[in-house]
Amino acid sequence: MTATAVTIPLLTLKDQHAEIGAEVKAAVARVLDSGVFILGPENKAFDAEFAAAVGAKFCLGVDSGTSALELALEAAGVGPGDEVVVPTFTFIATATAVSVLGATPVFADVDPVTLTLDSASVLKKLTSRTKAIVPVHIFGQPADMDPLMDLARSRKLAVVEDCAQSHLATYKGRLAGSIGDLAAFSFYPSKNLGAAGDAGAVTTGDEKLRDAVNELRNCGRSAAAGYNHVRVGHNCRLDEIQAAVLRVKLLRLEAWTNARRKIAALYDDGLKGLPLKLPPLGSGGTKPVFHLYTVRTERRDALAAHLRAAGIGTGVYYPVSAHQQPAYAALGAKGGPLPVAEAASREALSLPMYPELPAADAARVVAAVRAFFK
Ligand SMILES: Cc1ncc(COP(=O)(O)O)c(C=O)c1O
Repeated sequence: MTATAVTIPLLTLKDQHAEIGAEVKAAVARVLDSGVFILGPENKAFDAEFAAAVGAKFCLGVDSGTSALELALEAAGVGPGDEVVVPTFTFIATATAVSVLGATPVFADVDPVTLTLDSASVLKKLTSRTKAIVPVHIFGQPADMDPLMDLARSRKLAVVEDCAQSHLATYKGRLAGSIGDLAAFSFYPSKNLGAAGDAGAVTTGDEKLRDAVNELRNCGRSAAAGYNHVRVGHNCRLDEIQAAVLRVKLLRLEAWTNARRKIAALYDDGLKGLPLKLPPLGSGGTKPVFHLYTVRTERRDALAAHLRAAGIGTGVYYPVSAHQQPAYAALGAKGGPLPVAEAASREALSLPMYPELPAADAARVVAAVRAFFK
């Protein structure tokens, strides 16, 4: 038996490349011709443009979203012996960024509607060692930041937003990445804003934290000229070529975000009434950006197989919660149970979502899902 070809993929960058490939190549050529490859004018311009786009005072480009998390937490003072509360329903980097600093991630459960960090669960996880909280705006759904910020302020904890999937998402009118003390963005190629390789950024409104991240990303070197290394740092700089590529794409980010929201609205309209949990479309000033459009059903694997047979690609994010990963086996029973996240890992299925997805294809996805539940 031959497998059905996937005609509607979960995501593709092909159409985006067709639209802007020439501009991206020109931007890369501009850097090659300039002969400046590290921390030059493209970085400077991108930092200013991205900070403005996400409503942050400062932005520092780095070499990945993982580095962004690590540097943000390190700048916030997280180190050996500290604990950092993270949602267990996330990409593993949210947790490993804590571990590589010699601190311990403490896993909390997520809200059953948004799948983002649940402040009631966080409260149960706080100890005298807790140093920071990392809300993740997972799939582009803004975490409920007000109770998390209140909790953090009352206990003097740092808040690092994980914005890897939430470029331009808003929470009560505020942009993700402008609410916590620091925020970490990923520009992994498939993200809402993606580079031509690995890239990321840290945003903050605090000048001291800005300086700390700036030094940490550049071998501990002070911003003043010369070889003055004021702390032990890393080499996590953003390449000029990646900054130049990101500047081209940033010009389209708002339009791409609106396109994602339109597709989400089509799905919402078409899938209502089925025995599926649908992601919130947002209301008022809270607007998700649908990095992924993720539905939940106990029949997840059967639905995925049905869609696959209809030529429709899907994805499972995340099949195993972080506290159940082998990397964290040593934490043992201390990690769980975290029932909302554990159920989400069994039930979550992401449907095709990318800005160029034709409305007719979204309608085909809806029809195929409806046929499954008939
Ligand atoms: C929620 C989350 N955090 C962190 C990261 C890490 O970003 P990167 O892959 O750019 O290192 C990702 C990206 O995969 C992510 O989705």
